[in-house]
Amino acid sequence: MNKRAFMKSLALLGISTGSVFSSKAEVAPSLNEIDFNSDDIWDQIRAGYKLKPDYINLENGYYCFLPQETLEKYIEHIREINYQGSFYMRGVQFQNKAKSAAKLAELVGASTEEIVLTRNATESLDLIISGYPWKAGDEALVSNQDYGSMLTMFDMAEKRWGIKVNRIDIPMHPENDEEIVAAYEKVITPKTRLMMVPHIVNITGHILPVRKIADMAHSHGVEIMLDGAHAIGQFEFKISELDCDYYGSSLHKWLSVPIGAGLLYVKKNRISQIEPLLAPFDMKLKTIAYLNHIGTHPAATDLAVLNAIEFHNKIGGKRKEDRLRYIQRYWSDQVRDLPGVVVNTPKQPQRSCGIGNVGLENTKPGDLGTILMDKYKIFTAPIDGAGVKGCRISPNVYTSENELDQLVAAIKEMSGNY
Ligand SMILES: Cc1ncc(COP(=O)(O)O)c(C=O)c1O
Repeated sequence: MNKRAFMKSLALLGISTGSVFSSKAEVAPSLNEIDFNSDDIWDQIRAGYKLKPDYINLENGYYCFLPQETLEKYIEHIREINYQGSFYMRGVQFQNKAKSAAKLAELVGASTEEIVLTRNATESLDLIISGYPWKAGDEALVSNQDYGSMLTMFDMAEKRWGIKVNRIDIPMHPENDEEIVAAYEKVITPKTRLMMVPHIVNITGHILPVRKIADMAHSHGVEIMLDGAHAIGQFEFKISELDCDYYGSSLHKWLSVPIGAGLLYVKKNRISQIEPLLAPFDMKLKTIAYLNHIGTHPAATDLAVLNAIEFHNKIGGKRKEDRLRYIQRYWSDQVRDLPGVVVNTPKQPQRSCGIGNVGLENTKPGDLGTILMDKYKIFTAPIDGAGVKGCRISPNVYTSENELDQLVAAIKEMSGNY
């Protein structure tokens, strides 16, 4: 039996291929060896990950850890930079970071003059919130389903600059796009300057019609910042087609860059009005680089962006998006209509991708997460807030149908639907 057939037989038996690897990289196949015409490509991709055998990991939303192939290249970058020391940091560090940013700009459909690499979505979005040219009396618009620390940054802006921040609730199961656009529009006033909108709601997996929201915002003279922490690498889009003013994302999530990588996009004509979060050497430099002085940082992560994009492109962004949507629907369709079960993710296919959320009417989300982990060995993220009660289920490209069958069986058993 060859290695591929062996891996497939393990996967079919529901045995984690991760357990057969040592930490030695050469055991894991590279994506170059994958036959994309075969019917077991996802088993082959799974075999490129070192998976913990202790539990089924359905919490990739925090961090989509690296396939062995990217991990080994990342470690090689760490070794090389350590070998070259300051010679590297003084020499080619910045050119290399710019090369990675340029490749990223190509991936997300933006100009290289509008993209920089940050350390995460937090840095990207907080930079805009804190650096925006606020005047006392200005208003901002956000939602209760936005990420907590960005909401706190807006609270800080209220205190610092005397602005007012209005909040809406994003409808969880909208009839159509217009319902969501209208939910934002009705809170806009002549004083509204900036709105923050999640490209995908992290706790439910709800993908918003952000181009329509941007068009509406601009028709009122309001700028729009998209929180795409979970978007890049999960589903396909081009920032240029969204017509947003600002975009922030974390690349260690769905693009599987090592921890500590993010993207900031600022529309060219908005760059000069934003104050940097951390001061650069030269405040007169009004290119996007002046927003990106973060001091000395782990330069190997910048290099690994190229390797993560290479891995992503080998799978193919569209193929990955289709797979992630398929596996989310694979489990959620089986439990959505069961009595006592609440799926907190919209049903229309275009409104979600890999992330879903499921709750039980009679069980608190925290307890549900604990039971899933302790009894069924399934790791999820319990969410109890912003109108959402359930566990976030975020599989990744290595997740098998067999693993999701175990999730479905657990939900059925807990809800008394045998
Ligand atoms: C919607 C959203 N925005 C921002 C963040 C912050 O991401 P990071 O911690 O990588 O900066 C997260 C983290 O999960 C998130 O879900």
